[in-house]
Amino acid sequence: MSKYIQFFDTTLRDGEQTIGVNFSIDEKVAIAKQLENWGVDVIEAGFPVASKGDFEAVTAVAKAVKHARVTGLARARKGDIDACVKATSMATHKQIHVFIATSPIHREDKLNMTKEQVIDAITYSVDYAHKFFDIVEFSPEDATRTEPDFLVESIQAAIDAGATVINIPDTVGYTNPQEFEKLFKNLRNNIPMFDQITFSVHCHDDLGMAVANSLEAIKAGATRIEGTINGIGERAGNAALEEVAAAMYVRKDYYHAENNIDMAETKKTSDMISHCSEMAVPHNKAVVGANAFAHESGIHQDGMLKNPQTYEILTPAVVGANKTSLPLGKLSGSHAVMQKLQTMGYQVTRDDMKVIFPRFKNIADNTSIVSESELKNIMREVNKVTA
Ligand code: KIV
Ligand code: ZN
Repeated sequence: MSKYIQFFDTTLRDGEQTIGVNFSIDEKVAIAKQLENWGVDVIEAGFPVASKGDFEAVTAVAKAVKHARVTGLARARKGDIDACVKATSMATHKQIHVFIATSPIHREDKLNMTKEQVIDAITYSVDYAHKFFDIVEFSPEDATRTEPDFLVESIQAAIDAGATVINIPDTVGYTNPQEFEKLFKNLRNNIPMFDQITFSVHCHDDLGMAVANSLEAIKAGATRIEGTINGIGERAGNAALEEVAAAMYVRKDYYHAENNIDMAETKKTSDMISHCSEMAVPHNKAVVGANAFAHESGIHQDGMLKNPQTYEILTPAVVGANKTSLPLGKLSGSHAVMQKLQTMGYQVTRDDMKVIFPRFKNIADNTSIVSESELKNIMREVNKVTA
């Protein structure tokens, strides 16, 4: 049976924690509107208590967004919650996201709090937040390095105080899919209301497993995935939501899960974040990289020309990207070169290629990509004109 997975986008909050990224309020509003077009369920617009700018940005996004739920982030403190209440007051749909660290290293070395003090802070803050918000999301920060029993105790305290969404952050990108599945099994076995609660995950990419861990969580019982566009965020970043969406699209047979994402808006959303964050998307990035739908080797180009499904599990049209390209380089085969010449208007036969292809190879050996003008030169040399 298919289940529904909510997408929670934190590009404007955790994404903005990327070194050097600073979105203006106008950019934040434009990004939030595009995230809504893309189909996300929740937008984390900022951390209202952190600065006047963050407060104003959350207020502006709350006013502008009509369908997605808007949230602000709050530490487990009254002042943080009060700032969230004010900043989201104009939102059509809202929630709050309250967090406190639960792992021993964070409790002892960062917060200087005992387990009892952490539980008291959870109970107080979730209960207080629940007076203003129907939906209170609670995150035990550094959950994946928290003692399993204490993680259960913390989550149970949050549920008892009124939290209906529990987010499991892999704050330092420490876990792996197998271990994450085990963590969820333990929660399912020890939280009596597991099935009535929305379990969310928030994975960082320090070991390159954020997307894999998020997808595993869908199998293990999570129904909300948090992440950012292009995977931007603190340190190595967050789970790239466009990759989660693409995996769910391509592997429906495996995940058996639906979402509200309009896949055709994916590339536009990624381009907007790349532009506003001034962070180029790596060419080889999954789903939205410039080379994601480009094939260079002769064997691959030959396969693509015979049946694109030989080497493409996702078409560029699905994500709103430019069409597949077969750039011609030293590994390209005669078939791809002939096809390219034909699309340029030349009538060439397989016999013609016996003369043309060695000339092409000579050029390709000394350059990365053979351009159309270089192909035209070859055709002039062999006395071929366009039809
Ligand atoms: O990574 C993290 O733990 C966070 C929390 C605030 C959810 O960003
Ligand atoms: Zn985070």
